[in-house]
Amino acid sequence: MKNYIQAEEWNIIEEGFDPHLNKISESLFSLGNGRMGQRANFEESYSGDTLQGNYVAGVYYPDKTRVGWWKNGYPEYFAKVLNAANWMGLSIKLDNEELDLNLCKVTDFRRQLNMKEGYLERSFTAELKSGKQVMVTAKRFFSIANDEVAALHYQFKTLNCSGKLSVSSFIDGDVKNQDSNYDEKFWDEVSRTQNESGSYLTMRTKKTEFEVITGVKTLVFKNNDQLQVTADPAVKDKYLAELVSVDIAEGELIDIYKIATNLSSQNLAPAELTEKAAEILNAAILKGFSALLEEQTAAWATKWEEGDIIIEGDIAAQQAIRFNIFQLNQTYTGKDARLNIGPKGFTGEKYGGSTYWDTEAYCIPFYLSTAPQEVSRNLLIYRYKHLEKAIENAQKLGFDKGAALYPMVTMNGEECHNEWEITFEEIHRNGAIAFAIFNYVRYTGDQVYLQEYGLEVLIGIARFWKQRVNWSDARQQYVMLGVTGPNEYENNVNNNWYTNTLAAWCLRYAAEAAAIVKKEDPARYAEIVKKTSLQEEEEFGAWKSVAENIYLPYDEEKGIFLQQDGFLDKEQTLVSELPVSQRPINQKWSWDRILRSCFIKQADVLQGMYFFEDNYDLESLRRNFDFYESRTVHESSLSPCVHSILAAKLNDGEKAYEFYLRTARLDLDDYNNDTEDGLHITSMAGTWMSIVEGFAGMRVRNGKLSFTPFLPEEWNSFSFNIGFRGVQLKVKVKKEEITIVNPAKELMDINIFSQLYNIPEGETVIAYKGLTV
Ligand code: BGC
Repeated sequence: MKNYIQAEEWNIIEEGFDPHLNKISESLFSLGNGRMGQRANFEESYSGDTLQGNYVAGVYYPDKTRVGWWKNGYPEYFAKVLNAANWMGLSIKLDNEELDLNLCKVTDFRRQLNMKEGYLERSFTAELKSGKQVMVTAKRFFSIANDEVAALHYQFKTLNCSGKLSVSSFIDGDVKNQDSNYDEKFWDEVSRTQNESGSYLTMRTKKTEFEVITGVKTLVFKNNDQLQVTADPAVKDKYLAELVSVDIAEGELIDIYKIATNLSSQNLAPAELTEKAAEILNAAILKGFSALLEEQTAAWATKWEEGDIIIEGDIAAQQAIRFNIFQLNQTYTGKDARLNIGPKGFTGEKYGGSTYWDTEAYCIPFYLSTAPQEVSRNLLIYRYKHLEKAIENAQKLGFDKGAALYPMVTMNGEECHNEWEITFEEIHRNGAIAFAIFNYVRYTGDQVYLQEYGLEVLIGIARFWKQRVNWSDARQQYVMLGVTGPNEYENNVNNNWYTNTLAAWCLRYAAEAAAIVKKEDPARYAEIVKKTSLQEEEEFGAWKSVAENIYLPYDEEKGIFLQQDGFLDKEQTLVSELPVSQRPINQKWSWDRILRSCFIKQADVLQGMYFFEDNYDLESLRRNFDFYESRTVHESSLSPCVHSILAAKLNDGEKAYEFYLRTARLDLDDYNNDTEDGLHITSMAGTWMSIVEGFAGMRVRNGKLSFTPFLPEEWNSFSFNIGFRGVQLKVKVKKEEITIVNPAKELMDINIFSQLYNIPEGETVIAYKGLTV
């Protein structure tokens, strides 16, 4: 755990340069705009410890997998989003001495991520080995107003010296992935162009053949006079630079502007890339850095209007929730249904930038409430587009007749994870995808989604579950053998309660969705029946029978659902009995010991009780919560948020708040000692859920919103904006009180503290706990 980030409401601030923290800060101060992004690497050269990272969404490489014992059914590759060309590099030499903070005495170092306006700023004074002192201020951003553009303003000043300054402003495409399995480089150079309009380097990925052009234009000014920038004659493979050399007197200021664009052949024909890049660069340069930044500020203002959460009385919590919201909005904007949310977004290489169940189980609620409806719709359509591949994936494992098994990890619909216990067994991901469709329809009321896309996906998923269970003569029930639940600290278990519960629910929901589509749009229904060769009577009957007769392990004596068969045979120890020196167990214990222990990585039974909460009374939730929470080590970032929401529901404010803090400041405080690898983007959506679903108790029931709020003791109030069915509501929670503003043109019925309030158009309601209306 670290504590070097200063608490400030709208900014993430680091004061002072500590090279040991550099990789953590590179993650924390990352920038992105949904289309591309970057770790907070320095613009100038840096020979110290760094993880260089520039990423272009959706551009991946199928890296050949390494595994010990190959199993039939394994995918051949792990798709990873690539470290792409670095557009913002500057090699700065003063009298031939390179500016490199690793070789300088650095003072007044400050890094600031301005979340309100969406830019990163850094300033420092450096004393070079020669004793020359220089001062730098750099500001850069990835435009969310125009997601093909990024911009940098780098200001350089001599303090106690004069000399010849040379600035080589480069694009470096000669980059590697740190996590490359065979130490290969994944890019080939295709072409380079340098002319009046800028410098352009086009690179092509090996095997997948994506072409990405990086175009930059560098403008340099001395005391506001523009200097001539020429092509750097130092020619290197996959590397292109523009050069300026100038005599600089003591105290003189040099302003370097670098405007960049990244375009990929996903969106344009390769032959069009250079022309289009020049067009975009020209337009951006005409606008200029300041105007681009103004657009950026305005675009972020809209994002904050849609999704800010304001916490009064607790700056650390305020900063944390804004950081989470900011990073989520930097990662995914929902404009392109081919893109998704990698668990580390654009902040690192871990998890390969691929799609996990995290999107459906954790991220959808955030985007549903804080972004236009098409954003979460696009996330669902992403899976619809992968349906064929999910059917093929299931076929590879021996399933048939249109059964679909979505991949655990994917970039293009194909599975790319190679661990049998996860690839073949962590099949609960299929259920999360169905649940997300339900969640989306429940929240938006957009039933048409089922007709257009949802039902086909649900049929594929239901068929999979039907085939995945088997009838047990011994039990006279259906059972599901050999699975891994969300708790990855145990594999190949039988009858994981969460997976069985989810499977039964999917089977019912698929049949319900079919009935809805049949009623609403019989022609489309007939089309789907034909396309999927649906044997209505036979298949629905079979689904019903499985759903009604599936075995759900339960312990009568304790009154709890059992995570899986035999869970109580394990030695029952509690996390509170684990010495601190043994944690995290995934770093301190052998895997064998972990598998045999009763310790749980992340919410499993509780994840199910969270999804299907209306099926369980509070007492049952309490018993299960008490039992499982005390055995959970939360070594997945996805765990604390679910616990926070459930603790809030159980009226345990203290626990809810404890879990909230753990999820909210996970990266800012480097809670798990792994922030240097990148941020936990998907769990950030869970943090948002902890406030909105947890503290505010927001739910959607029968098409209406409901709230059962409580205020953590540490806060004076919290408020948030959410979009619900076209209305932008403002909600503010104080102690035992909630205020809701309805700006809609119609009356809104909202359930607050279990009572129905009719809020007329444009009016505000204040509801008090315990007061009957
Ligand atoms: C968790 C998974 C999750 C993955 C990516 C793992 O540690 O156990 O549930 O999908 O991280 O976030």
